[in-house]
Amino acid sequence: MFATVSPKFNSNLNNIPNDLFSAIKQLKKELNAVILAHYYQDSDIQDIADYIGDSLGLSQKAANTNADVIVFAGVHFMAETAKILNPDKLVLLPDLAAGCSLADSCPPQEFKAFKEAHPNHLVVSYINCTAEIKAMSDIICTSSNAVKIIEQIPEDRPIIFAPDKNLGRYVMEQTGRDLVLWQGSCIVHETFSEKKIVQLQVEHPKAEVIAHPECEPPVLRHANYVGSTTALLKYCQASNSKEFIIATEPGIIHQMEKAAPDKHFIPAPAMNNCACNECPYMRLNTLEKLYLAMKNKTPEIILPEDIRVAALKPIQRMLEMS
Ligand code: 13P
Ligand code: SF4
Repeated sequence: MFATVSPKFNSNLNNIPNDLFSAIKQLKKELNAVILAHYYQDSDIQDIADYIGDSLGLSQKAANTNADVIVFAGVHFMAETAKILNPDKLVLLPDLAAGCSLADSCPPQEFKAFKEAHPNHLVVSYINCTAEIKAMSDIICTSSNAVKIIEQIPEDRPIIFAPDKNLGRYVMEQTGRDLVLWQGSCIVHETFSEKKIVQLQVEHPKAEVIAHPECEPPVLRHANYVGSTTALLKYCQASNSKEFIIATEPGIIHQMEKAAPDKHFIPAPAMNNCACNECPYMRLNTLEKLYLAMKNKTPEIILPEDIRVAALKPIQRMLEMS
């Protein structure tokens, strides 16, 4: 594989080699590093990664790696989870500004008050939250194990579910449990237009709509299948259908096209005529920044030890219950 830097970019950053793939592979050897990438990353980052996965797969991989350096091609809460699991390893995030609107929708001080208002409740938090929120939680979940985790909690135990109201509502429907929902959401999964999805269904009557559970109810209503990014990928491979309308970040389509080259994947459009279905945080990472992060061993994820230790427990519980 050979990836080059655009001439415009190269003239600004003289120290970037032209063959970035070879340079990154060389640094990987020198650092004994592993590159973990989420499906929402640019295709070239996915192509250089050692492992590509959803949030659960990435945390399981981070929990079991022998590498000395973890290069996390994803967003801040994902790299932070890797650091919580690996305090002695260097965890690099190519762009520290790669945050998450969902994690930002749950500020720790407000969540503390919310928790205090529901003192008997067990706190189950979606992994898309900050280390401070994890430290206030009893169990972490991801979109692939949320239903399974809630089903393991005794029925008489009241539960707070944070921060994603859409995933929370979906889990309530699937489990029949009554959850107290924090009202957070993801700007990307809120942007899909039900009207445009229905128009696409008319144009492609044989296409199946598949959606991430962070989408809003009007979109989920049209979905033939709802699942995490890994589950959506597996579904496309196994299904007899040849066409799919994908209601999640379109970065996943790169792996779908690789896994099922004979099938056609149509990204679900945003309400406005914008590229708002692409996660602006995930897309801050570039191959160039990934190379520079490895070369300079920065930016690094650093966490206060008390927060890390408190956040580790609910992550470990999730890994045990998954
Ligand atoms: P996954 O659990 O499918 O990785 O979802 C992560 C995410 O950020 C979705 O927006
Ligand atoms: Fe966060 Fe949404 Fe981006 Fe996922 S897609 S990282 S939830 S902003």
